[in-house]
Amino acid sequence: MLKDMLKNLNIAIIVAAGSGSRLGSGTPKQFLRLGNREILSYSVETFSNHAKIDKVIIVTSADFLASVKKNYPNCSVVLGGSTRQESVAKGLKACPYRTRFVLVHDAARPLLPFDIIDSCLRQLDEFDGVAPAIEPVDSMVSIEGNRLKNLSRNNLRIVQTPQCFRVDVLKKAHTSPFVDTDEMGLVSKALPDARLSFVKGAQINMKITRDGDLEILNTYLKAQQK
Ligand code: CTP
Ligand code: MG
Repeated sequence: MLKDMLKNLNIAIIVAAGSGSRLGSGTPKQFLRLGNREILSYSVETFSNHAKIDKVIIVTSADFLASVKKNYPNCSVVLGGSTRQESVAKGLKACPYRTRFVLVHDAARPLLPFDIIDSCLRQLDEFDGVAPAIEPVDSMVSIEGNRLKNLSRNNLRIVQTPQCFRVDVLKKAHTSPFVDTDEMGLVSKALPDARLSFVKGAQINMKITRDGDLEILNTYLKAQQK
């Protein structure tokens, strides 16, 4: 249909409205420095430089709205919500009419490899949703009262971002009453028939979350520069 043919834009939504409570650095982690640049700037640059990404939307909190608008004049900047899911919903509302695919990325994952974007977009031709994931290497257990249950690593994945969807699929999931910490979780609950798939993630695409994580990435960048 002509209407669907017009939907040809790929939009990156970078969620940067969190407070970084687990890192506890005062300033939210996406605005701390890595190397000599703001953490948020890395993913903005990666998506902005990718030939298949048409527009970058940054979702941020009220305190940082003005400075983010000023520092990233080529991006749309919108106000987030009190949960990651609400922030993603705000980003979805800001997508242009012609959006076909949305790629939702955590600002707290600055070192996203370029080729992960390519492999996600390629898979989206066949699937409704795609995200990078890595297989756990450590033993995994669930704690049930005072008993431990060993989980089979073969069935487990560590899910990263960008989490990429046909925009209509993600918007529909957002109209459901379900809540989840990420889009793959939300879509699989809200739309059990959705076709979801993973591509190979990368260790370096780690999310800065706790004390020490930023140092790991700083050490990596320094080693790259040598
Ligand atoms: N995020 C967001 N809006 C929220 C909460 C989180 O846009 N209300 C974003 C964060 O800015 C981050 C990403 O979602 O880029 C992943 O979330 P997380 O690592 O949990 O970041 P924070 O919520 O900031 O950290 P914490 O949970 O430790 O408070
Ligand atoms: Mg959080």
